[in-house]
Amino acid sequence: MTELEQQLQSARAEAEAALAACAELPALDQLKAKYLGRSGTVSAALEQLGKLPKEEKPRIGKLANEIKNAMTAAIAAKRDELEAKVATSGPTIDTTLPGRRHHIGHLHPLTQVFERTVEVFRRMGFAVEDGPEIEDEWHCFDALNTPANHPARDMQDTFYIDPKAMPPDPQLGRYLLRTHTSPVQVRTMMKQKPPIRIVALGRCFRRDELDATHSPTFHQVEGLHVDKNVTVADLKGTVEFFFQQLLDPETKVRFRPHFFPYTEPSFEIDLSTPHFRARGKEWIELGGCGMVDPTVFKAVGYPDDEYTGWAFGFGIERLAMIMWSINDIRLFTENDVRFLEQF
Ligand code: DAH
Repeated sequence: MTELEQQLQSARAEAEAALAACAELPALDQLKAKYLGRSGTVSAALEQLGKLPKEEKPRIGKLANEIKNAMTAAIAAKRDELEAKVATSGPTIDTTLPGRRHHIGHLHPLTQVFERTVEVFRRMGFAVEDGPEIEDEWHCFDALNTPANHPARDMQDTFYIDPKAMPPDPQLGRYLLRTHTSPVQVRTMMKQKPPIRIVALGRCFRRDELDATHSPTFHQVEGLHVDKNVTVADLKGTVEFFFQQLLDPETKVRFRPHFFPYTEPSFEIDLSTPHFRARGKEWIELGGCGMVDPTVFKAVGYPDDEYTGWAFGFGIERLAMIMWSINDIRLFTENDVRFLEQF
């Protein structure tokens, strides 16, 4: 047996052993390259054929071809076997099962009212202001002409912060959870001069029992416009436009005389929408408003008689309840998806 024959026979034996041990497709590819590839063992042997004596060429050539064909066939068979194994192993997919639904979240109804409110006021040139939920008595009451003996300042109405946790400020008084968004008016006027056009939206707190129409936490929108020669007509026009944009172009607004310490004159805002009129309910009370009281201008350090302005405040839950005919304020905080899904 010539050296080349020996080489070929041992390559065949080696390849057969490797093939038997091969269990994965990438290893099979490597194996194929090693023996049958362009610079593989068998190809190298075939190249040497040319150098052999004439009489040996046919025999060894035949042998080399046999080996090559046998290996090619064996590798192809192994490939079929491995591919079948891959297809039937691993996780099986039952294409007849119904699809799994992806639940896409959306904004909470109160957030939707927030965003629509801001959008309408932005169009009228209002900026959005913000204030702390933990307020002090001065910003929440004193600066708003609400004296120490006013019922709103009662411990029974208001959540005061434990003085051990936040000691009262000598000038600003005790700390408390804000009872309304009106202190943002004070904070805004103290940091900038008119013209001012702002809305402030946020959470407020009062010691209310939780029932269908009361909650110890709720949200308000506050509006403030201060400039020279601002009138009640501006106030009414702005409020009316806002509700018409938010609710219905046919919405009517009515002002009823009222009292708030920080406005003079003061009004309660009533609304009438076609939706409610159709159900025989004419006016719904929604919030308060008025012309900023001169004592408030004084508290924030504005010069006497230079400016006039108006302010309003109303409850966001109230508004959402009107928009979607919701009859229980507790639904907004219970976070029951059967409720939230509807918006
Ligand atoms: N702060 C009042 C409340 O909590 C609402 C309010 C009334 C706000 C009149 C105002 C206003 O800005 O001018 O009920």
